[in-house]
Amino acid sequence: MVAIGKPRGTRDFTPDEMERRRAIEKKMRDVFERYGYREIVTPTIENMSLFTMKSGEGIVEETYAFNDKSGRMLALRPELTAPAMRFYLEKLQMEPKPLKIYYFGNCFRYDRPQKGRYREFWQMGCELIGSDKPEAIAELISTAYFVLKEAGLKNVQLRTGDLDILRSSIEKLGVEKADEIMRLIDKSDYEGVESLIEEKSGADEFMEFLKCRDFKSLGKFFDDVKIKRLGDVLEWLSVFGTPYILDTSIARGLDYYKGIVFEIDAPSLGAEKQLCGGGEYSLIPLLGGKDVPTSGFAIGFDRIVLALEKEGFSFPPSKEIVCILPIGGEMRKEAISLATKLREKGIMVEVDLMRRSMQKSLQYADRIRAKFAIIVGPDEWKKGTVIIKNMQSGEQKEVRKKELHNFL
Ligand code: HAM
Repeated sequence: MVAIGKPRGTRDFTPDEMERRRAIEKKMRDVFERYGYREIVTPTIENMSLFTMKSGEGIVEETYAFNDKSGRMLALRPELTAPAMRFYLEKLQMEPKPLKIYYFGNCFRYDRPQKGRYREFWQMGCELIGSDKPEAIAELISTAYFVLKEAGLKNVQLRTGDLDILRSSIEKLGVEKADEIMRLIDKSDYEGVESLIEEKSGADEFMEFLKCRDFKSLGKFFDDVKIKRLGDVLEWLSVFGTPYILDTSIARGLDYYKGIVFEIDAPSLGAEKQLCGGGEYSLIPLLGGKDVPTSGFAIGFDRIVLALEKEGFSFPPSKEIVCILPIGGEMRKEAISLATKLREKGIMVEVDLMRRSMQKSLQYADRIRAKFAIIVGPDEWKKGTVIIKNMQSGEQKEVRKKELHNFL
């Protein structure tokens, strides 16, 4: 036991874990870039007021907030959409539209930790600023889908809905507690919803609407004008080659959403199965800016890693390292100068720093899964050669120093 542990809900990552995470991160970034998104970075801390405006009660309760030494109320960012919009207003408004930005960063929520739910977690996400054409929203949703596919996930489920339609159908019920209904729907607590609205006329129809998963049947509840935009986006999703399910009951937890919304799940993950969430939203007018269409999504990076493990994904093997081992103390300097030369050529090299015996050094090379050991002996060095040992086969070969890097 260490005397001081890490805070609840946070994690350390071993070198092996980081290698896997970085490999997945890279694949995901590549897809954002293929869709024309460019990366931004914003601060880990923001003014708390950025998040109190429209993120919703849940987020505010979950936000780590503190006063700094000058008494400013700051927050560790619980998400990256509000920071991205602040940045847009401060610096990016003159950029050509549509403006496509993506980010990868740690977020903090004072949540009850469990598998897949952490107090510090990583989001990779993006914002699309300047177009609300149905094909723009469909491209956004497709980006999310293909990022997850490229990460290596096989089993994901994309659900798309429309908050304007959902809110209208709640309005039709004539209830005062519309927000509470939205919250219950977001938690999939349908019994809770039913008990809140049971007295209302139209309650049965509303429950039927919530379960509607087929666009044609939506016509039973709304006229064509109301559902046209959703229909258009779904059609464009097919053009982008993106499989989806219509889900009328997507409520999204954050208050800034409106219009088309979507979520992507990994059914294999159980309780914390939501990998990605997003849609259209409005934040810029609240920040005092000129209104412009905005939409986006964020992927829970930690959950991607969990879902890949669950699916038995074979992560790329570790990068191969070469160990340089001097024979006896007198070859130590030669070994180190050889290491420097090979490192300059981009080869990953370890050189003995423990003054170990040859036998111990070889055991070490084996433990760190080195592909080759390069044995630097005085007789070979004089001839301009070294011995290369293949750590897997045990085979040894004398190679000229000059040809070494081609050989590796
Ligand atoms: P969100 O649904 O709150 O949306 O979070 C997005 C994703 O982050 C979730 O689907 C989940 O995978 C992951 N996530 C959330 N909380 C945790 C946690 N405590 N531990 C691990 N993973 C978590 C947003 O944050 C919006 N800003 C997305 C967006 C971008 N909307 C428009 N643009």
